[in-house]
Amino acid sequence: MKAVGLTSLLAVLGALAGGAALAPAPEELAGGETTVFDTSPNAFSLSARNLGESHRAAFYVGHSFFNENWLAATATVSSRDGLGPLFVARSCSACHVRDGRGAPPDDNLPPEMMAIRISIPGRGPDGGPKPDPVYGGQIQTHALPEVKPEAVVLPTYEEISGAFGDGSRYTLRQPRYLITEPGYGPMASNVVVSPLVAPAVIGLGLLEAVPEKTLRALARQPAKPDGIGGKVNLVAEAGARRKVVGRFGWKAEQPSVRQQSAMAFNGDMGLTTALLPQENYTAAESLGRTLPSGGHPEVSDEIFEAVVVYASTLAVPARRNVTNEMVVRGERLFAQLNCAACHLPRLETGKVREFPELSHQVIRPYTDLLLHDLGEGLSDHRQVFEATGREWRTAPLWGIGLVATVNEHTFFLHDGRARDLAEAILWHGGEAEAAKERFRNLPVLDRGALLAFLNSL
Ligand code: HEC
Ligand code: HEC
Repeated sequence: MKAVGLTSLLAVLGALAGGAALAPAPEELAGGETTVFDTSPNAFSLSARNLGESHRAAFYVGHSFFNENWLAATATVSSRDGLGPLFVARSCSACHVRDGRGAPPDDNLPPEMMAIRISIPGRGPDGGPKPDPVYGGQIQTHALPEVKPEAVVLPTYEEISGAFGDGSRYTLRQPRYLITEPGYGPMASNVVVSPLVAPAVIGLGLLEAVPEKTLRALARQPAKPDGIGGKVNLVAEAGARRKVVGRFGWKAEQPSVRQQSAMAFNGDMGLTTALLPQENYTAAESLGRTLPSGGHPEVSDEIFEAVVVYASTLAVPARRNVTNEMVVRGERLFAQLNCAACHLPRLETGKVREFPELSHQVIRPYTDLLLHDLGEGLSDHRQVFEATGREWRTAPLWGIGLVATVNEHTFFLHDGRARDLAEAILWHGGEAEAAKERFRNLPVLDRGALLAFLNSL
């Protein structure tokens, strides 16, 4: 008999006993050595398992400032004030609930965990979306007591029915967001509205650590014979002229966790940082003179850096049930249907000077971080740097099976229109039309297997 290593023997015994194997299989380690093992509602809120001593204090400070409400500025100085005057939410976690994803509103209710982006046709001074001259690039639905919010936003959903290849029927819902009660005069009549739900904030430092040359090598233009292309977004870097590769946001609009976080403080909460020292209202809204400020900047460098460390080192939870028969079958189908052409199962991070923890990790994010045309059905008709209305960044699928546990809902896609994973797949079009059609035509058991695989991520 061949010698069997003690660990693999124990792993086999563990598997036989129905319990978790002692040594995790490589495919369970979604985030490499940063991976955590937690399947509770807290699963997205843990730090990278290998987080170094030097980052722990910052992680906990960041956790606090990510989760607790910011306050309006008053005469007394506080490290936690400067909210507004216009804002969407009072804390990061109001949208990124338990570091997970936000939910869209029901019919005719105001969105609370979303960013409602607006722009007018053409490009802005930085090459990005052109802001509305009065309302800027995002609708602020809340304001301090003495100030008017920018507008009320309400969605309506239209039901669209369809059928699987086997004849069983399904419905999808197409949202439309209306902006009403503008508080500062008319909005441009040709304004384009893009509702975006807050995504989970796990594993982001790992995604930032994937070398740019990997992404450029993955980009396929023109599209391959399978119809799948993929391109990097090239976006503005705050304070610099050059364009850099975008990675974060549904359209890969932001190049780094740092800039995305500064944008969030600014656009979503009305808080200034050293990176983005301007308040988020426009000159036309003339709000500045009368209100107290929370300092210059309102978010101190120390707090800002801690939030960046936090958002960069939240861990990805391990996969579950990887040896389950349905899951294994679903994984095979995921490759056969060509889902994996965009949702890449495996990437490697490079060296990150600031974060040795995140360096040289084999990760399983199920994204290529590239923009793909997903068809007219998902288009928001809004150009964001190189991304057209139809183009979106391949959404990372790691952790997706735990959304129901962490966030107590299963709304997916950029605006949360899909009510479950199957609906999310059925909305795929454009470059993903063929993969979607293969899914739609699968026998019911195979559809179940594919969903079981997604739920194991
Ligand atoms: C009003 C809701 C809201 C608030 C508040 C909010 N976010 Fe977000 N966040 C979003 C949305 C929406 C996106 C996607 C943006 C896009 O697609 O351009 C996002 C994206 C992100 C991302 C990139 C995630 C990814 O996968 O690309 C990070 C990092 C992030 N937010 C950090 C923060 C931090 C830090 C704060 C607090 C300072 C914060 N957010 C506050 C809604 C919010
Ligand atoms: C051409 C590239 C491409 C292919 C092929 C593709 N996807 Fe996607 N997928 C995307 C993009 C881009 C998004 C984000 C779309 C959006 O939010 O509007 C996405 C979103 C998703 C989501 C929702 C994720 C979230 O965070 O809300 C799921 C689930 C998903 N895809 C599964 C699949 C499956 C299963 C297949 C194969 C049947 C597949 N995808 C094929 C590009 C692709």
